[in-house]
Amino acid sequence: MLALHGGTPYRDAVSRPFPARIPFDEEEIRLVTKALRSQNLFRWGGELTPLFESRFAETYGAKHATGSTSGTAALHVAVGAVNPEPGDEIITSAITDLGTIIPILYQNAVPVFADTDQDTLTVDPDDVERLITPRTRAIIAIHLFGNACRMEALTEIARRKGITLIEDCCQAHLTRYRGQLLGTFGDMGCFSFQQSKHMTTGDGGMTITMDDALGRCMRMFADKQYDRDRAGSRMYGSLGMNCRITELHSAVGLAQLEKVGGVVESRNRLGGRLTEGIKHLGGIVPAPVTPGARHSYWTYPMRVTGFSNETFARALNAEGIGARAGYIGDPIFQCSAALAEHRTYGNSRFPFYSPYTDRNFERVDELCPRTRELLGQLVLISFNERYTEGDIDDVVGAVRKVAEGLDRTS
Ligand SMILES: Cc1ncc(COP(=O)(O)O)c(C=O)c1O
Repeated sequence: MLALHGGTPYRDAVSRPFPARIPFDEEEIRLVTKALRSQNLFRWGGELTPLFESRFAETYGAKHATGSTSGTAALHVAVGAVNPEPGDEIITSAITDLGTIIPILYQNAVPVFADTDQDTLTVDPDDVERLITPRTRAIIAIHLFGNACRMEALTEIARRKGITLIEDCCQAHLTRYRGQLLGTFGDMGCFSFQQSKHMTTGDGGMTITMDDALGRCMRMFADKQYDRDRAGSRMYGSLGMNCRITELHSAVGLAQLEKVGGVVESRNRLGGRLTEGIKHLGGIVPAPVTPGARHSYWTYPMRVTGFSNETFARALNAEGIGARAGYIGDPIFQCSAALAEHRTYGNSRFPFYSPYTDRNFERVDELCPRTRELLGQLVLISFNERYTEGDIDDVVGAVRKVAEGLDRTS
């Protein structure tokens, strides 16, 4: 009998809890102590931040890396470097964290949402192309859950149309697509070091590029456009932000950079094992892997068909398994008053309504029908790099028990 209906849980998570992440050890403590002992935690003048940025760039084979305070800030640095005109459009995915969208609005551009490809759970390149207008300045491709977008198609579209391609790799650190690291296909790649990410500094971010001009724009934007190369009195360029990383974050980041490869390897192996275990079950669609991609499973996204995803997740929880229905429950443009009701700057509804655009951005209800359907089927299974194969086998067993025992109509 299912635990949801009073049966014995598949795994007693009280007596046999799943392993928690242990991201930090003596190396982080040593480097943080070193930062503190230096009596300077400011990035300029510090030793650790230039080292962290250059090692991060080296890891990705990028020429430039700018550290910042969050993934949102890393994306803001990228959009700031693009410097859109007010009312320009930036196409992105309808399934993401709001941190992808906030920088678009703060730079006065309008986010435009493309539908989701069910075979990858990432943005559908055909829909991206359909949405391009003369006002499109950039595409932000989100490698959702650690799976790669269809990068050949997206890079080809961006090149052909002369549009900047930004990769949101917040959930896809050190993840390869056809052997190449995500974040290095587009013009800029953006990473988050928030606590749940493959490598973490609690909060933090990094933007990378191969392009010298963009690299300079990124550095300037993150530092209030303060021209530090100029001799004499202080001068600032155009409008920028203070997104500066500190030496404390760089200390932790340096240690994390040594570990992220192991984290990604483990997650790839365990996620693959989970897929093998559940792929034959009726009503279950395991996490898709884009052809050519090596998934890094920030989390494990499976779909259920014929079941309610809410009930399925609750049934798994009752069996002792960490799971939740959906990721965001609705497409991102319905999860934020700034997007759904255009509550942005005072009552202006800017940039959705302004003299800078003649488009109508109303009628969000009709957007992205496939995304809605997919979100309604999604069940995210929690696991982390410390799970053993036995732990994954317990997850598999519980998914099988629920898939076989749960009434299809519930
Ligand atoms: C896909 C994606 N983009 C952007 C962000 C924003 O990152 P942060 O929370 O570090 O600002 C996140 C973080 O959750 C994310 O998952």
